[in-house]
Parts: sequence; structure tokens; C-alpha cells
Amino acid sequence: LNNGLGLTPPMGWSSWNHFACNIDEKVIRETADALVSTGLDKLGYQYVNIDDCWAEPQRDDQGNFAAKNSTFPSGIKALADYVHSKGLKLGIYSDAGYYTCSKKMPGSLGHEEQDAKTFAAWGIDSLKYDNCNHDGTRPTVRYPIMTRAIMNAGRPIYFNLCEWGDLHPALWGGKLGNSWRNTNDITDTWESMISRADQNEVYADYARPGGWNDPDMLEVGNGGMTKDEYIVHFSIWAISKAPLIIGCDVRSVTKDTMEILTNKEVIAVDQDELGVQGKKVRMEGDLEIWAGPLSGYRVAVVLLNRGPQKSEITANWDDIGIPPNSVAEARDLWEHKTLETRFVGNLTATVNSHACKMYVLKPIA
Ligand code: GLA
Repeated sequence: LNNGLGLTPPMGWSSWNHFACNIDEKVIRETADALVSTGLDKLGYQYVNIDDCWAEPQRDDQGNFAAKNSTFPSGIKALADYVHSKGLKLGIYSDAGYYTCSKKMPGSLGHEEQDAKTFAAWGIDSLKYDNCNHDGTRPTVRYPIMTRAIMNAGRPIYFNLCEWGDLHPALWGGKLGNSWRNTNDITDTWESMISRADQNEVYADYARPGGWNDPDMLEVGNGGMTKDEYIVHFSIWAISKAPLIIGCDVRSVTKDTMEILTNKEVIAVDQDELGVQGKKVRMEGDLEIWAGPLSGYRVAVVLLNRGPQKSEITANWDDIGIPPNSVAEARDLWEHKTLETRFVGNLTATVNSHACKMYVLKPIA
């Protein structure tokens, strides 16, 4: 969407994966505090996104959204002011239907302009727009109404289409939103995570600055996967130029979780200015090579082992887009070291089960 936002994939946090409907203004404020005290904000995690269940089930007398009094008594404007005072941005959630997916609050269908104005007046910086409980018309009919409403609301608002991939939103989302969900909801398991990565990869060619494929929010830190699996999750999201939206409770993160979420070198791949989504360039059974170009003629590579045993994986220059005779220097993004070997033509590594290696290769001759 040509609104000047999302020139690199958005980074931040969302309430849904960890808290679902159990949210209140205290959790949101404390999360903003935690993003700052942990230093995650400085690494780029800027958006604090309130997901479903923040509003009263009924609109007010004027038909306006009303924040749920029992959980958000100070109102959303006050929360936005608080989040902004921390140097962060506030995101909110609605739905292109009569009710949101939880059915606990109204959607925006038929109230698009009014709601966009409300969000702008509250100081909202991002809107996730879901696709539940609608009138049966196509999303390509209902979403553009909100796109226009937001563009006219007088405040830059990042627009995230949450259509789940049924109607291939990558094919039409670019002009309507800053990102579009290509998948059903992620859960905190290896199978769920890796299958969302697969579904999203198919649309790699549609990603570009201002419009990104969204394989759903991160589960890193929620406890359902091993550390290696979470490293795969974060690495694949980064090489896929996915939004990096943390989905755990950042008020109590473990050292391992922090180590993953704060890996600056992996974040830099996601945020690289070239904005080209990486793809699978080779699959051999359970072994996969994902690669994508970076600025400065560099190439990001993930060697992924989806299988049950430790295996060697080789990335050939031919497959990953480096001239065949080039000599390349390899930076290991999880070991944080530049390998002494200079590689010619290919790079081989041993990769554990449900684990990956991630490199940035730089041709030097
Ligand atoms: C849908 C979305 C989720 C979340 C829930 C909230 O399932 O895909 O990401 O927003 O709705 O109810």
C-alpha cells in the first residue's frame, strides 16, 4: 500500500498468541514498559498491537466503538498516549464483518469510515483487519473500503490484511495493505510453524517494500518448541521478510528467548533495504536450502533440516544466486562469527534435526 509505511517488515508485539482474549490495559502498558527495559525497542520492535477483545460488545449511542470498560477503563486514547510516550506505536484490531473472530466485539463492516476516524483520533498507528462473520461477499469487496477509510483518516496507519490466504491475498493485497496473512492461525508447534512457512513461501515474488507476505506472528518464547526449532522459526521468518511480531509475554522472557529475539544479524536480514523475500531454492527430502538476495550483492542462506537425524547440507552457488566461480566469505548469524574458510562454489554444513544454519555470504572475488 502506497502510504509510506512498511518499507521494511514491521516489528513489534501482539497480544494474541500468548494472551488471546485475556487482555487488559495493564498488560499492554507493562508490555510497552518491558519492550523498553529489555532494549527490544532499540532493535526495532516498535509496534504494540492489541488484538481481538478490546471493545464492548455493543457500540455506543453514536455507533462508535467503545473500549471495554472492565478491562480498558482508561480508554484507548490514554493507552496510545502512554505507548507513544515510550517511543513506541500502538496497533489495534478490527474485522471486515459484523463481529470479530472471537465474537466478543463488533467488526467494522458498514462502519469503516467512522472507525478509521476513531482510530486516527485515538492515535492508532496500525490496524489488523480480520475476515470473520461477514456478509458473504468477497474480501476484495470489503477490504478496499477500509483501505480508503484509513487513507482518508488523516493519520498514517499501517494496514495488515488478515484474510488467512483463502483467496490468495498476495495476488491482490499489494494495493490494499502493507501486509497480508497467507495462512491460518499459527500454533506453538513445529508442524504448525513450518507449514505456515511453506504456505507463505509460495508467494515470495509478491513481497516488496510497502507490502509483505505474512505467515503469522511469532511463537518464540511460548514454550511449545525446542530452542533449535524456535531458531528455525525466527530464521525462516527473517529470510522470508516476514513481519517480526513477538507473540510471547515479554514481561518474563527467558535468556534463550531473548537470545533469539535480539539476534541483530538475523533481524538485519529481515530488515535489509533490498526487501526481496527469500525462497526455497532446493529441496532434497527433509533437507532444504532457502536463499534470498541482500543489499551489497550479499546473499542470505538458511540450511534447514526438517528430518529426524543430523545431516549434511550443501548450498551451491548456482542455486543461491552467486556466480559459480566466486569466492565468498561466510558469516554465521547464530554463531556470530565470520568463518575462516573462503568458500568457492558451495558451502556445506552439518545441521541437527529440526534445526538450521543461517549465513550471509559475501562474494569477495
Ligand atoms: C483470527 C486471526 C488471529 C486472531 C484471532 C482473534 O483467528 O487469524 O490472528 O486475530 O482471529 O480472534
